[in-house]
Amino acid sequence: MRVLIGNSASQVAKIAAENVLAGLTAHGSGNTPVLGLATGSSPLGLYRELAQAVREGKADFSAARGFALDEYIGIRATHQQSYRQTLISEVCNVIGLPEHFLFTPQGLGETIEEIEAAAANYDQAIAAAGGIQVQILGIGANGHLGFNEPGSALRSRTRIKRLAAKTRQDNARFFEGLERVPTHCVTQGLGTILEAGRLVLVATGAGKAEAIAAAVEGPLSASCPGSVLQLHPDAVVVLDEAAATGLKLRDYYDDAAAGLSNMQLHLD
Ligand code: F6R
Repeated sequence: MRVLIGNSASQVAKIAAENVLAGLTAHGSGNTPVLGLATGSSPLGLYRELAQAVREGKADFSAARGFALDEYIGIRATHQQSYRQTLISEVCNVIGLPEHFLFTPQGLGETIEEIEAAAANYDQAIAAAGGIQVQILGIGANGHLGFNEPGSALRSRTRIKRLAAKTRQDNARFFEGLERVPTHCVTQGLGTILEAGRLVLVATGAGKAEAIAAAVEGPLSASCPGSVLQLHPDAVVVLDEAAATGLKLRDYYDDAAAGLSNMQLHLD
């Protein structure tokens, strides 16, 4: 795992975007980038940096595929707070990813079985697109990844999950009262997330410090779903100073941040 710490919000966004673009090069095949997309405040700066890369001719998402991490159950895809609408306005319209190439889990159905079947099909759709090359992630203050709340199976697939009470409270600001917040969602599973070529997780602010310390340095445990990053061979965690305060190995991360560029190949 690479842990990279920026000293401002704009530096965090730049570092994250560089690592997304490099990940698409490293794990891409052909001209069709396949991105996994998180909603939430953490990756907004990263999306703006990707848009800047498009303007500078360094990236092109006009033929890309985007797979959302999660979607609420019980609200229409056209609902203003659906993750589909959020991703259209915060990602598609920003980086130039066509709406018809954005895939989101099906959160509305006549029966639970219909939603369950659609969730299984979502994993198949990811596989049919050749797999997610770079998955963009945030992390919840409780350590959740996607909507894999604490207690989620570490090898889970895309499926229905109950939202934690804390998550519903955190998201109530987007709805007209807590009772209007969906109780359930469909989320990529932790096993699904681990299949992406590269994971790029962004976390900022003191409120994330505990979750980051548990995810990056704590034991691998369903109690902190973010700890599955430790199983991934190409995970990049981009933090600001406040989110990094709980890390014990900070000096090592700073030494290693330059990657292989300052390696001494011949010492004798
Ligand atoms: C978003 C998602 C969540 C968020 C997490 C952090 O699609 O699945 O896991 O990444 O709740 O949210 P923010 O970035 O708003 O703090």
